[in-house]
Amino acid sequence: MIDQLSRPRRNRRNAVVRGFHRETWLGPEHFVYPLFVHDRTDVGDVPIVSMPGCSRLSFDGLLTEVEGARADGIGAVVLFPAVADALKTRDAAEAFNPQGLIPRAVRALKAKFPGLVVITDVALDPYNADGHDGLVADDGRILNDETIAVLCKQAVCHAEAGADIVSPSDMMDGRVQALREALDARGHTEVGILSYTAKYASGFYGPFREALDSAPRFGDKKTYQMDPANAREALREVELDEAEGADIVMVKPAGPFLDIIRRLREHTTLPIAAYQVSGEYAMLKAASQNGWLDERRVVLESLLGIRRAGADVIFTYYARQAARWLAEGVKP
Ligand code: PBG
Repeated sequence: MIDQLSRPRRNRRNAVVRGFHRETWLGPEHFVYPLFVHDRTDVGDVPIVSMPGCSRLSFDGLLTEVEGARADGIGAVVLFPAVADALKTRDAAEAFNPQGLIPRAVRALKAKFPGLVVITDVALDPYNADGHDGLVADDGRILNDETIAVLCKQAVCHAEAGADIVSPSDMMDGRVQALREALDARGHTEVGILSYTAKYASGFYGPFREALDSAPRFGDKKTYQMDPANAREALREVELDEAEGADIVMVKPAGPFLDIIRRLREHTTLPIAAYQVSGEYAMLKAASQNGWLDERRVVLESLLGIRRAGADVIFTYYARQAARWLAEGVKP
């Protein structure tokens, strides 16, 4: 008999005892489902090659997909537009066209699903001929304050169409306060701001940029998105976003930045969101399709890890599938 007072395995002896002290849980109430939408009339849903299972949806496809997601228990979606080449300009004016793709999609969704929480992306890259999140000067610099003026018009346009939450993903300085003031000035005091607070210049956005044909036409996004080497800078960003009136703060990508989620959790009382981005989805999908990983287990484990790190909300392309697996009783 080994003299062993402390035996952690006693608390793992069976499912009931393990259930006593499970610290983290996962449910569809935690998920936001990102959806790509287009308004071409010549095609229906267009599959995204590097994101098997995801498509650029037609309006009909969008309504069908959201109906299914609702049935699976998903309460919130975030929309991204696949904008026609001809509408991409250097001033990104299509971003605040009240008859544009996103305002029309928001109106269609809110008419059919009044209780659905609709989040819109505030950034210029899908509309910008240069593929950057901000306006580009002749010498190639990304203009901060000039961009913010356009973002404010975009956010007000989305709010006017019925968006519940606007979500600036552009990383310009000072945009949260400017958006708050612009929304309030138009009476949209109830529209929330979910800020991409610590958004890193990551290689994991590749499939998303393929989906929207929104890759930067020159250079990279390192003068506005954060250096993946940095953690303290994320704390500086969260202090600013909090002071500027953000309602929810986000870390993106999620999986490679779990320590940042934890640091933010310990630094702010605001709810925290994390984005399991397109490249994270593509990795999990590709390995699963090859039979190299057990998809249900690893996807739920990855989402549970994001929650354990401290995220309240998770943006994930797996939202519907994960919700269904959880309903079937699969345990991460
Ligand atoms: C751009 C934006 C990006 C994503 C969301 N908003 C890409 C980028 O910054 O280049 C990426 C999401 C994903 O990869 O799933 N404003």
